[in-house]
Amino acid sequence: MKKELNINILNIVNILTDGQYHDGNSIGEKLNMSRTAVWKIIKRLKSYDIPIDSIKGKGYALLEPLILLELNKIKKKLIHDKVDIHLFENIDSTNNFLKNFKNNPAIKICIAEKQSNGKGRLSREWYSPFGKNIYLSCLYPFQKDISELAGLSLITSLAIIKTLKDSGIKHHLFVKWPNDIIYENKKISGSLIEIQAESNGMSYAVIGVGINVNMQNVGHNSITQPWTSMSKIFDKYVDRNEVVARLINHLINYLHQFNAKGFSLFMDEWMSADCLTNQIISVKNVYGEMTGKVQGINEQGHLMLQLENGAMKTFSSGDTSIIKR
Ligand code: BTN
Repeated sequence: MKKELNINILNIVNILTDGQYHDGNSIGEKLNMSRTAVWKIIKRLKSYDIPIDSIKGKGYALLEPLILLELNKIKKKLIHDKVDIHLFENIDSTNNFLKNFKNNPAIKICIAEKQSNGKGRLSREWYSPFGKNIYLSCLYPFQKDISELAGLSLITSLAIIKTLKDSGIKHHLFVKWPNDIIYENKKISGSLIEIQAESNGMSYAVIGVGINVNMQNVGHNSITQPWTSMSKIFDKYVDRNEVVARLINHLINYLHQFNAKGFSLFMDEWMSADCLTNQIISVKNVYGEMTGKVQGINEQGHLMLQLENGAMKTFSSGDTSIIKR
């Protein structure tokens, strides 16, 4: 089930964003809604675990900062025109939504406040609570065969790093092949790419990006690896609209360049962001697990591993963990 972001939710959160108490009547008058309709929206926000205090005679107050995503704010900052953006309040997965538009000739973006079935790599769940983080997918039509898209995951990681750096995280950011974005050994972002090849030589890629922005705590077992978020790093609340706009701008730039010139253009940038080269690591994929020393990546963006017996092995996919530093 998917729900477009309701304008009343946005308007009510915009009133409550000052952290003060506002009573149902005055909110209703400002927005031309009944007190009951206001109360229903408050109930909906509470159902998404947004902490709101209600005091009889005083009204409602947000107990934590909250700025929702807003298309107007995002579009104002975009450098690419003709980008079609869909914004949802709640959706199973932004990647799944864009898969409905295969054969679409234009770039499409889907963002959501919450995903009920957010997908991570290797069939893992991507924890996607309402209003906290960025869940964004981009549908990009390539005039390329699927075999030429091996570096896509890597250039997506580079576009995320650029976005985070431009947002103020200047140091300690690395990419762990192929797609984990790591800050001081904790994951801050990841991407999931799903490609559909067509018989006419076109390939449609859905590039899904999750960035931890304002997440401070998670329930037990919701995330199984060490993680961090932008607000933890800055120790302050972050307006996601700014970060989303930056991400769309950088992602589309990187995708255009990759489409035109391939992966080799990005080799130097990859090498300066990579944290695996010369490390002893293990790579897990569907065929099992192997250990060796990383020798970098090849021209296609595949990981090159020197095994303990000296043989060289390349990997096009897998999950990597550093064993020794
Ligand atoms: C990973 O590191 O395992 C990949 C995480 C990818 C999460 C994003 S959130 C937006 C998009 N929609 C999804 O269902 N997954 C990706």
